[in-house]
Amino acid sequence: MLGLFFAKESVVGVDIGSSTLKVVEAVSTNTGWELLAAAVDRCPPDAIKDGVVRDVQEVGAAIRRMLREAGIKATGAVCGISGSQVIVRQVQFPKMSEALLRKSIKYEAGKFISSSIEDSVVEFEIIGDAEEPGQMNVWLVAAPREMVDSRVAVLEAAGLEPLAVDVEAFALIRSIVELSSTDRFLNETVALVDMGASHTDVNIVSRGEFALTRNIPIAGDSFTNAIKNLTGCSFEEAEQAKLEMARACPWDDQDVAQRENRNWRAVQPLIDELIREIKRSINFYHSQFPEGDTGSFVNRVLLTGGSSQMVGIDKYVADKLGTQTEMARLFSDTAVSAKDLSAELKAQHESVLAVGTGLALKELIADSKQKAA
Ligand SMILES: Nc1ncnc2c1ncn2[C@@H]1O[C@H](COP(=O)(O)OP(=O)(O)OP(=O)(O)O)[C@@H](O)[C@H]1O
Ligand SMILES: [Mg+2]
Repeated sequence: MLGLFFAKESVVGVDIGSSTLKVVEAVSTNTGWELLAAAVDRCPPDAIKDGVVRDVQEVGAAIRRMLREAGIKATGAVCGISGSQVIVRQVQFPKMSEALLRKSIKYEAGKFISSSIEDSVVEFEIIGDAEEPGQMNVWLVAAPREMVDSRVAVLEAAGLEPLAVDVEAFALIRSIVELSSTDRFLNETVALVDMGASHTDVNIVSRGEFALTRNIPIAGDSFTNAIKNLTGCSFEEAEQAKLEMARACPWDDQDVAQRENRNWRAVQPLIDELIREIKRSINFYHSQFPEGDTGSFVNRVLLTGGSSQMVGIDKYVADKLGTQTEMARLFSDTAVSAKDLSAELKAQHESVLAVGTGLALKELIADSKQKAA
């Protein structure tokens, strides 16, 4: 039989972190989704401030180099935004058409944004009818225009075609929860905690429905700065000392040697404060339910991000929170195939590739849903 076969187009997810850049190339297959290539590299120092890329050409060139070295051929790209300036809120509107909502949404968004609405990008998604008659629930997303524009400009500087900009929290939920193998996490309420360099994100997802995202300004850089302030060394030296400390002092085994390590003693109060903030976010989410209604309470915490690679941190968090906590396992607990990625890359970078994977899959999943409809 004669047939025409078109090569399926791959998409690259570009996760522009303040500490590391990640690229992930994904493609849809007959049976699901597959990662073709991925790479992780340092972000040029001080190139990103408050989520805005200050040196677009330098970051673009770094990504272009990563794409070349990883053999990534995709041209279409999706990048992400995150941080305290990205607002994600559920709001209620009287029922109306999408076109009409588009006109009113800016006014509504203005209530949540401290800067001028003209300097912000505002998007929305209608979730469905609210309990109150005649009302509907809507997800509102707003971000500084400068942040969005600078990230799109990075994609262009890297020779890529920007297809979409997504919220990093949504990308993480897509790869870890929506695509969890055998729908494992779709029947639970999970808190996805992404411990990066500039901030830690807490994202709560209940039975597959996104419920809350919160940004905590304590993460890898805070730990490094604590060591820097203690010893008076440079940030780079403190970063190396932190990685060394994280290897030598497992968080789930606080023996005497550990307590005598002064770098560990400088970092521990920050880790404890971070865990208290995570607890506050979870408690805030729980406070929305009537007393005694614990059915949708968070029953699992999943850790991602570079700072979650500190040895034993999962058990330390579990003990302090009193909630089952584990590392999110992108390559073994999700339905995304990664058979072409090297074992070394998978072992070394599993915890930092979940956002990039979710970004790459955004358009691929949307396309496949459209085709199925
Ligand atoms: N083994 C390790 N032990 C402790 N910290 C680590 C380890 N590996 C990486 N990190 C830390 O993880 C952070 C980088 O993580 P990640 O790549 O998730 O951040 P990012 O995406 O660049 O930052 P952000 O999203 O906050 O802008 C750095 O602070 C780095 O020091
Ligand atoms: Mg990050």
